[in-house]
Amino acid sequence: MCGIVGYVGPREAAPILMDGLRRLEYRGYDSAGLAIQQEGRPSLALLKREGKLSRLAQALEGDGALSGRAGLGHTRWATHGPPSTANAHPHQDEAGRIALVHNGIIENHQALRQRLVERGHRFQSQTDTEVLVHLVEEGLAQQAEGSAATPPAPLGPERLAAALRWALGQVEGAYGLALVAADCPGVLLAARQFSPMVLGLGEGEGFLASDIPAILPQTRRMLLLEDGDLAIVQAGGVQVTDLGGRPQERAVMTVDWDAQAAEKGGYAHFVRKEIDEQPDALADTLRGRILGDELHLPELADLAHRPWRRVCLVACGSSAYAAQVGRLWIERWARLPAEVAIASELRYADPVLDAESLVVLVSQSGETADTLAALRLARERGAPSLAVTNVVGSSLARGADASLLLRVGPEVGVVATKTFTGQLAALALTALALGQARGQDPRRRAALLAGLRQVPEAMAQALQSEPAVLRIAERIAGARSMFFIGRQFNQPIAAEAALKLKEISYIHAEGYPAGELKHGPLALLDEHVPVLALATAAATYPKLLGSIEEIRARGAPVFAVATAGDRQLAGLVEAMVEVPALDEEWSPFVTVVPTQLLAYHTARLLGRDVDQPRNLAKSVTVE
Ligand code: AGP
Repeated sequence: MCGIVGYVGPREAAPILMDGLRRLEYRGYDSAGLAIQQEGRPSLALLKREGKLSRLAQALEGDGALSGRAGLGHTRWATHGPPSTANAHPHQDEAGRIALVHNGIIENHQALRQRLVERGHRFQSQTDTEVLVHLVEEGLAQQAEGSAATPPAPLGPERLAAALRWALGQVEGAYGLALVAADCPGVLLAARQFSPMVLGLGEGEGFLASDIPAILPQTRRMLLLEDGDLAIVQAGGVQVTDLGGRPQERAVMTVDWDAQAAEKGGYAHFVRKEIDEQPDALADTLRGRILGDELHLPELADLAHRPWRRVCLVACGSSAYAAQVGRLWIERWARLPAEVAIASELRYADPVLDAESLVVLVSQSGETADTLAALRLARERGAPSLAVTNVVGSSLARGADASLLLRVGPEVGVVATKTFTGQLAALALTALALGQARGQDPRRRAALLAGLRQVPEAMAQALQSEPAVLRIAERIAGARSMFFIGRQFNQPIAAEAALKLKEISYIHAEGYPAGELKHGPLALLDEHVPVLALATAAATYPKLLGSIEEIRARGAPVFAVATAGDRQLAGLVEAMVEVPALDEEWSPFVTVVPTQLLAYHTARLLGRDVDQPRNLAKSVTVE
């Protein structure tokens, strides 16, 4: 999830772009860059730096060349190609005539790159984005070939837009992008497909951005582009068309948020925003990795096909609970023995790890000290490793033999929400790849992939359960202790639910295998200890009903997350939250959502600092 900002008007562009990028740094921050149209000269001035935005700001101080009244800025969250100056945006065509910034994922970038290289294009970066600027260059070249005019007509906004339309006609994937050309003064282009793009209307000025906070200090009059839109942005106004060139009407809205609220997209907390981002984030995790009934995971091409004797998943905190679901999927689909080890324990154990053990290290930050120590141990023991992480340039991604990225964008809230479900998706893809390499029945895999494709929409529906969740939050906010119970795929989700509640509401909570209650914890239950059961449709559903009866008999208030329309459970529990029906294997994606909302609303009702809970850090880089 990168940040984009653009300006065209009478003022110096660079300071406006830098201010915008600072307000977008929460979206991505491993490298940044600017492209400025130079006054009276058909050339662009470009400046890019790897690392935090402050490094670009330092370079800008020393570089007076970036003077001009139109330009683009970008702050990057890498998905394709590690953080580096070459991979930073803007990207340029060979002549340096065009500069382009992009937020999203171009799924067919490899095929397009191959074709462009065969046509003589030379690439400077490892990014998927760079194919776009070469395609626009191709589009302009074709126009020139097609026009008899000598010398060719000056490059106006319409011709530039036509070249971009031609280029986008060949692209598959998601993009919010902007483009500026050296010889098309006072013009910026913007386009959107599945990634956000907003235009700002100033007095004799034009703005564009991937997110409202970047341009809110400049204007409150905004226009949201929709999928398939392409806009010409000039100081005097904007024109929006579709990719066929047909004019599109888009409403102008007035945004009344303050700057801080804007960064949260109008949400009260980053955690709540990130919970809502999950359906789109998951679509990004899966994008380009499921093609029809086939998996497309070049990252795992080598590791998946080795004759593994076992899989050892290693992680801490929430990531360990995601790993536990991953373990069940690997055993079920790949028929490979799998176990989960807590990194802080594994590093001091004497585990049996060798060349036939695949070590899967799960860490959203990729910087957790205990997990990195486990990576070192795996290397010492000659066990190949796969990193499942959200951060491209992280120590884990760089240290492991292969890495599978979550692509859910940066997570600001300390508690893991969208990175947790992103980890689930990445582990599901890993399990399917291991299954495919071990001869899993392709019809079974096709059916599983069909199920996985439904997950983003099902999560969007699960978010609709919020009113019911809020009623339960009001009931449990006064509790001193709480239990979450689940079975099979939802047993780790019960543990994750308890962790979320602990982290931000400070209420003691335990996640427990439902069948284990009678072996002890039942003694703790009475009218002061609420229990939430994850009771969606599953082979073990009847057993879970039995556990609920046991709990009711002790007078403890019981709530449930249930499959929509489950009347049997409705009669058994005090209140329930309904989520859409999914195959049992995919149910963790929908059962976890109401438990995230429950922790959020309970903490909010108790007036806790939801985004920055006490005593916790987003990434635990010390032992
Ligand atoms: C989860 O909400 C917590 N932030 C914490 O348990 C976290 O999952 C753990 O520290 C592991 O972090 P990682 O995924 O970055 O390695």
